[in-house]
Amino acid sequence: MTTPAVFLDRDGTLIEDAGFLRTVDQVQFFPQTFTALRRLRDAFALFIVTNQSGVAKGEITHEQAQTVNNFVVQRLREEGIDIRAVYCCPHERADGCDCIKPNPYFRNRAEREHQIDLARSFTVGDHPCDVELAAGVGASGIYVLTGHGAKHRDELQAPCLVVDDIGAAADAIAVAHAVALLREGGVVAIPTETVYGLGADAMNEAAVERVFRIKGRPTNHPLIVHLGEASQMSEWVREVPDLAATLAERFWPGPLTLILPKSSRVGDWVTGGQDSVGLRVPAHPLARKVLKEFGGGVAAPSANRFGQVSPTTAEHVRQDLGTDVDFIVDGGTCNIGIESTIVSLLSPEPVILRPGGVTQEEIEAALNRRVAVAHAAAVRAPGQLNSHYAPRAAVVLVAPHELEQQAAAMRAAGTKFRILNEADLAPEMLYSALRRADAEGATLILASPPTESGLGLAVADRLRKAAAPRPALE
Ligand code: TXA
Ligand code: MG
Repeated sequence: MTTPAVFLDRDGTLIEDAGFLRTVDQVQFFPQTFTALRRLRDAFALFIVTNQSGVAKGEITHEQAQTVNNFVVQRLREEGIDIRAVYCCPHERADGCDCIKPNPYFRNRAEREHQIDLARSFTVGDHPCDVELAAGVGASGIYVLTGHGAKHRDELQAPCLVVDDIGAAADAIAVAHAVALLREGGVVAIPTETVYGLGADAMNEAAVERVFRIKGRPTNHPLIVHLGEASQMSEWVREVPDLAATLAERFWPGPLTLILPKSSRVGDWVTGGQDSVGLRVPAHPLARKVLKEFGGGVAAPSANRFGQVSPTTAEHVRQDLGTDVDFIVDGGTCNIGIESTIVSLLSPEPVILRPGGVTQEEIEAALNRRVAVAHAAAVRAPGQLNSHYAPRAAVVLVAPHELEQQAAAMRAAGTKFRILNEADLAPEMLYSALRRADAEGATLILASPPTESGLGLAVADRLRKAAAPRPALE
């Protein structure tokens, strides 16, 4: 098994380039370095490749260069980031050594010694040499504008991506890796503004089947197909009704899913054998980048096991699915935090099948008519199964004025419980609050559902489903 790698330049890329560094107190990490590398550490072997010509020039000693390198590695380890190896060239160009960048000496050593898959690897740096290191091996070069990046930009020869800093470089690497995996039939967790999705190429039956297997979801429950552009909608449906065009125009990219009559290219493996397909153009910038670069449709349910609480951070996905998924694109915390609103346009009267991130009021205003919310079991939609979105703890819903009395009874009975307060019931907080209660070992969660208007409708809906009897899922 070979591993993809990221070859990181040190000065100007991970830390400020302040000339020849002699002591550790001169080391200053860029603010994005730690979070950027944490996003990559699971999928990539990380190497530092640094030219320290100051040694050859007699400006710094070997030991000083080494001390600084060791310190960088140690600080990164403290931040949870392991560096496989630091490769340091102490020569200057006039020495004609093999190891100075852009010579591939260290890169090839990594390939041999650490079983690196160079074709799927990346190099990141603020000097043209850093990205030229990538040329000729199928590894991609990413040029950062920090350090000397802005100054040397005009000298760039090799084709490469130019980004602001190491944070943007990590995003670009994650997107490129996700797209490559999707093309190969892999399964990738992708951040959206609602919740994380568990994505596969919608046209690839085997890949989509794997999504169902990982999720533990019955195959007759359809998946949403995610698209990079609203203009792709026509490829997936038999026709685009006016109402669909209106809603897409108004709410895409965004937390809205449209159910429409499917076109013949949409496989049964996505729709669960139904004649309709759910489509959505998500707004999260990384989701959009993945989808646009991929070009096709990505079938994705929420990236949790069937029936459980949807993930709103990459860490949630990691906890739920671990290594079952080929890669997690870490896009931070989902800002809406609750799933998309699903609107069926299969009959002349649009119906909301699942309340979500776009409110009923907004949809009614956009269409200039009343739009009803369907009652459970009208359509085959897991969000409509009674018990869903459920934490391990039992969820008990009570009226606001009963909260205190119920809590007192729990305390008296010695039950470990948690009350969801108003902040926990904000849509973007709900799922992490349910997860926190589980993590704290609560056996019972008490909540008083919010008023069912605006986003409160979706929150109340999820609470009701979390509180519903669960036998079917045990
Ligand atoms: O916000 C969201 O919608 C997230 C993100 C990842 O996009 N996705 C999501 O997927 O919540 P999932 O699979 O957990 O829920 C999608 C819902 C399901 O209830 C499914 O049955 C319904 O969409 N759905 C998909 N296609 C459908 C169809 N053709 N007819 C009726 N319901 C459909
Ligand atoms: Mg540099």
